[in-house]
Amino acid sequence: MSLASPPALPVARTVADLRWQVFAWRAEGLKVGLVPTMGALHEGHLSLVRLALQSADRVVVSLFVNPAQFAPHEDFASYPRGEDQDAALLAEAGCHLLYAPDASEIYPPGFATTVTVSGVSAPLEGERRPQFFGGVATVVAKLLIQSSPDVAVFGEKDYQQLQVIRRMVRDLDLPVEIIGAPTRRADDGLALSSRNAYLSAEQRVTAGRLNVIMAEMARTLAAGGAVNTAEAGAMDALAAAGFNSIDYIEVRHAETLAALGPGPIGEAPARVLAAAWLGKTRLIDNVAV
Ligand code: PAF
Repeated sequence: MSLASPPALPVARTVADLRWQVFAWRAEGLKVGLVPTMGALHEGHLSLVRLALQSADRVVVSLFVNPAQFAPHEDFASYPRGEDQDAALLAEAGCHLLYAPDASEIYPPGFATTVTVSGVSAPLEGERRPQFFGGVATVVAKLLIQSSPDVAVFGEKDYQQLQVIRRMVRDLDLPVEIIGAPTRRADDGLALSSRNAYLSAEQRVTAGRLNVIMAEMARTLAAGGAVNTAEAGAMDALAAAGFNSIDYIEVRHAETLAALGPGPIGEAPARVLAAAWLGKTRLIDNVAV
């Protein structure tokens, strides 16, 4: 526990203010890092800030709950918000600037441009949330162009999102290094997520089974097990654990997210990815094979 509270975190609300600060740092020869977030910050986000601080002299965290990546039936309106608490946590973690723009700064009147990343964004989350990656790619492209960082850090928790962003940055020659940060987990292995706050006490216990079942599946595949039987076994295990609906639990090529199997995965770099529901809460997670 620190005795002295850290100084209040400067906040930029406009692109002009953000750029002024970033260009001033650049003029001093400092390296700049960006950590994009939607707020409701937890230890997982703060670990991204700490990782950014290892590669950059100054770290900007953006806080913007991006309406374009939510479908009308999803939780945009109820998504947890608390800028003051987020700012206090960020100051403590060593962040140098909070960029918290109004929606009109990101989506000016008449906004008509969308970034589409095909291929890697098509399966899994892309099938279940068709609007999601268009919304993410567009806002992340804007945040990168607005802040022109040297590095930007994204969590591996949203693994497909990370691959989509890597693809977009490569394809558009955006001059930034993308760093993937390992997933932070609770004691039972549940991946930290802002949406875990929606879980009841009973659901929270069941939620801890997700990563255990995924890790078992990864071990089976690494030992040469067939993809089709490993996936079917994991589906059954999730249902038996109490997940009321399972969107997918699949093994995919770790970069392209192309399907593998139906037999053993062989030498392909592979990742197990899953999305499953507990009541109205959707959990996603992934583990390396
Ligand atoms: O991962 C998130 O929090 C969001 O999808 C991101 C990258 C900040 C874009 O809105």
